[in-house]
Amino acid sequence: MRFLHHIPVFAFLLSAVHAWTSTPFNPPSIPLAVRTPYLSCWLPQGSGAALNSVWPEFWTGSILGWAGFVKVDGVAYSFLGAPAVSGSTFTQATQQSFSFTSTQSTFVLSAGPIDVTVNFLSSVEPTDLVKQSIPFSYMAVSAASTDGATHSVQIYSDISAEWVSGDDSLTVNWTTTTGDILTHQVQLTSPTVYGESSDHTQYGSAFYSTPNTVSATYQSGQDIVVRAQFINNGVLANTQDTNFRAVSNDWPVFGLAHNVGNVGSTASTPVVYSVGHIRDPALEYVVAGGTQARSLYFWSKYSSPAAVISEFLGDYSAAVTRANTFDAKVQSDASAISTEYAGIVALSVRQSLGANEITISKETSGTWNTSDVLVFLKEISSDGNVNTVDVINPAWPIYLYTNPALGKYLLEGLFRYQETGLYPNKWSVHDLGASYPKALGHNDGGDEAMPVEECGNMLMMALSYAQKSGDNSQLEAYSNLLDQWTQYLISDSLIPGNQISTDDFAGSLANQTNLAIKGIVGIKAMSEIWGILGNTAQQSNYSSIASTYVTKWQTFATSTTGAHLTLDYNDESSWGLSYNLFGDKLLGLNLFPASVYDEQTAWYPTVDNSFGVPLDTRHTYTKTDWQIWTSTLMNNTAARDIFIEAVYKWASSGTNNAPFGDWYDTIAGAPEGFRARPVVGGHLAHLVL
Ligand SMILES: *[C@@H]1O[C@H](CO)[C@@H](O)[C@H](O)[C@H]1NC(C)=O
Ligand SMILES: *[C@@H]1O[C@H](CO)[C@@H](O)[C@H](O)[C@H]1NC(C)=O
Ligand SMILES: *[C@@H]1O[C@H](CO)[C@@H](O)[C@H](O)[C@H]1NC(C)=O
Ligand SMILES: *[C@@H]1O[C@H](CO)[C@@H](O)[C@H](O)[C@H]1NC(C)=O
Ligand SMILES: *[C@@H]1O[C@H](CO)[C@@H](O)[C@H](O)[C@H]1NC(C)=O
Repeated sequence: MRFLHHIPVFAFLLSAVHAWTSTPFNPPSIPLAVRTPYLSCWLPQGSGAALNSVWPEFWTGSILGWAGFVKVDGVAYSFLGAPAVSGSTFTQATQQSFSFTSTQSTFVLSAGPIDVTVNFLSSVEPTDLVKQSIPFSYMAVSAASTDGATHSVQIYSDISAEWVSGDDSLTVNWTTTTGDILTHQVQLTSPTVYGESSDHTQYGSAFYSTPNTVSATYQSGQDIVVRAQFINNGVLANTQDTNFRAVSNDWPVFGLAHNVGNVGSTASTPVVYSVGHIRDPALEYVVAGGTQARSLYFWSKYSSPAAVISEFLGDYSAAVTRANTFDAKVQSDASAISTEYAGIVALSVRQSLGANEITISKETSGTWNTSDVLVFLKEISSDGNVNTVDVINPAWPIYLYTNPALGKYLLEGLFRYQETGLYPNKWSVHDLGASYPKALGHNDGGDEAMPVEECGNMLMMALSYAQKSGDNSQLEAYSNLLDQWTQYLISDSLIPGNQISTDDFAGSLANQTNLAIKGIVGIKAMSEIWGILGNTAQQSNYSSIASTYVTKWQTFATSTTGAHLTLDYNDESSWGLSYNLFGDKLLGLNLFPASVYDEQTAWYPTVDNSFGVPLDTRHTYTKTDWQIWTSTLMNNTAARDIFIEAVYKWASSGTNNAPFGDWYDTIAGAPEGFRARPVVGGHLAHLVL
């Protein structure tokens, strides 16, 4: 990763305590529609914001217009977004509760004598590559009477054109199609393929859809015109505005409404909306002799956006059932550690998987090659690199837990590129391209150099995938590269030169204790890999090198002034999170003696701040992912829970309103600038041991 630009983070220090219940807690920002790096819509919270008191935002903090109104016996209430509609009268529904699971965020708001339940479902379908690759999310709205009487209910929602660009001055055009489904489609009139603006994609189309039941109506047009039409009439005009213009020029919006009819105390059948964004091709990937255009996996099954949307909306009830099953399993597994841990995990799942896209290529005949699967990840927020090895690595537990094959497909693009010989360095590349979605490699070798870090990461992840899946094909195919990286670690990891680790924001340093752990784990991992591949001579050779290194490392890395590991050799009062020992545990290597674990267990509680244990002695900041990894190393639950409770406190403190930041200060509980990053997948570390 690279810390390129500081995205401003505005701390919310509201003293008012909100009136609704939040279960399991009130996070910094609530995932609403989070499926890909470009479909990433959140409700900023700080100390609490109702669904209808602020606008939803893209992960960067820019507004994504998404509004909702309900009419009850002719009286209009807003339930989503913060629209102002001059000349029309409506009131805000009153939020009663908010809850979230791994895949769903649910709000209940009172609109007079009706309670409206608004459920946002961003599915996690890890073993179904077609479904997991569909870049869509659901919003379902149902109503129930709370006073024993029946009431007439109409429901409305719209999106703005902010969903298709990071630049509101650009011109968009749109169409509405009717049939079994009402779909508004909107896109830039001058798209840039593979382009980005302020992290938004600059090509492809956004789609807002709902089933076209007899009572459904649509309208496109200026925000205040379309919304006033519903507020005043409870029905839309079934008209299209064809005056194509800039996103912010009289703000075109795309409205869809339903007449739900008379509603009693039994909740009405939900009105379902889908919101999504499709671009094709999705990514450009470097191959020998050029580049390859890659498309999202779902194209192997559906030939048009309309076909995907029809399938997606038709699948809603089944999707809810699958989501409830998935959520219950995660909840049950994580609760075995602690209630706080279960909350952290539930908040992490959509964010982490929402940085990934599953792709395929075309055969020369033009048909899709579904044997050619590559997963790509955007290094969100710290920068926009593609498949950053030291971002995949912290997130690795979520792939092992949900579907290890996703991890294999993430590594595959890195292996294939380096197997071409286009990358000149003897160590592992840092990433596949500086700017998502262009995975163009680094043929000049000028990527951000993290030699020990990335070699160790690749070895650990490759072995861990084979161990979890029993599939050794990747080890077989790339044993030369894996051995090449091991040679590098043999010469450079016991005494690591002055270099950066994944925590590049902390600066470079020679002889980093934790980095040496990573390198030595990598050497031992290659020993295991040679064992799997049947080369027993190299297996025992590398095993003995790793053991010898551990013994030497202990003499270099143990403080003489206190019983703990140092941050760097010969720096006696220094210390840091030795999170790379997680590799020793995950791979079952038993490489480092129990005494090291015991010593660290005894040490960390003595250096715990209000919001947790600092990353190391250079600063007071820490990382959530590394704290959770370190918590897995503790030999008792009290020491383990210090880390878990710290991350929980940070996530639930209300000190920030950005999607779950992994980097924050342990004294003030203040954000350091990262947000929405996939590394929170590492919070699932306990679930894979
Ligand atoms: C919108 O713009 C795109 C890109 O210029 C163009 O291909 C498409 O035909 C336009 N659609 C409409 C409805 O004007
Ligand atoms: C499909 O992809 C696989 C994996 O990259 C490749 O080995 C195979 O040759 C491809 N098939 C065709 C027909 O292109
Ligand atoms: C790194 O540690 C080794 C072993 O203690 C020592 O010989 C070497 O001087 C150290 N290098 C630096 C740059 O501190
Ligand atoms: C063990 O591996 C190292 C590093 O590759 C190599 O230098 C050495 O010759 C090997 N030893 C044996 C006995 O194969
Ligand atoms: C944990 O570490 C402490 C401190 O070294 C040690 O006294 C204790 O026996 C260890 N407990 C277990 C369960 O290994």
